[in-house]
Amino acid sequence: MAKSTANSNLHKAKKGKNDEFYNQLSDIENKLKHYKDHFKGKVVYCNCDAPRVSNFFHYFSHNFELLGLKKLIATCYKNQQIDLFSDNSSEKAVYLIYEGDKNQNFKPDDEKIEVFPLKGDGDFRSEECIELLKQADIVVTNPPFSLFREYVAQLVEYDKKFLIIGNQNAITYKEIFSLIKENKIWLGYKNGDMEFKVPDYYEPKATRYWQDETGQKWRSMGNICWFTNLDHSKRHEELILYKSYHENDYPKYDNYDAVEVSKVDHIPMDYNGYMGGTNNFFE
Ligand SMILES: C[S@@+](CC[C@H](N)C(=O)[O-])C[C@H]1O[C@@H](n2cnc3c(N)ncnc32)[C@H](O)[C@@H]1O
Repeated sequence: MAKSTANSNLHKAKKGKNDEFYNQLSDIENKLKHYKDHFKGKVVYCNCDAPRVSNFFHYFSHNFELLGLKKLIATCYKNQQIDLFSDNSSEKAVYLIYEGDKNQNFKPDDEKIEVFPLKGDGDFRSEECIELLKQADIVVTNPPFSLFREYVAQLVEYDKKFLIIGNQNAITYKEIFSLIKENKIWLGYKNGDMEFKVPDYYEPKATRYWQDETGQKWRSMGNICWFTNLDHSKRHEELILYKSYHENDYPKYDNYDAVEVSKVDHIPMDYNGYMGGTNNFFE
């Protein structure tokens, strides 16, 4: 790669804080099927979604009738080219509205997806994006991990239902942990490994990175979670515990009066004190 191109790519990646990870349609389909009943008659907003490369927009526009949606709104960030990954180069952005199939061909035709200019760059915190948020019933997206705290705080402030992707470490952020404790957020279905498409300018720092035969860059992470306040049946499954507490099996933390439990199903059924989980707790 020529030096100037490499520099410009690095510059874009830095500007974008490497937040450009795009979800695969199969991951979205596999997880969202567990929430189908929540969407009937609802306005869905994808507020961090370069529309044509976001598989969230794709999923909801192609399943609009099946889910019985009322309206689909998507905003993208620093991007007006709806077919491209955002390279964070434009100070303006656009938003899209889709209100369903009007000609009975069961497809979201391009001309039925209305594209409107935004005054600003599509930041989810901007006034105009907040106005769109107010119209929404459910927000579904993979927001920038670097702004996760602020992102969730805004959803809570506007009392929105949501289903969003985040890093498992977010559980330990004090703001997020408090919401979990208060039963205002919980984990969604199936958390763990996820593969993401990344843009051309992505500079790999990670080991879980590859390029496929078409040249598309990818990376994967093993600690990805869905965070939601939509109810789902897994929350109501009875947890069958079979282990009893023995001091040697459950080491005590040095700095906190709690014992460590390696996995959910290793929770001792006869221990009433505080317990802590490790990274693989939910696997
Ligand atoms: C992890 S990517 C996910 C993209 C898409 N939701 C998907 O899953 O395919 C996060 C997206 O948030 C966008 N973004 C970054 N900062 C943002 C902000 N302040 N407001 C709105 N979107 C932002 C990025 O441009 C990027 O497209």
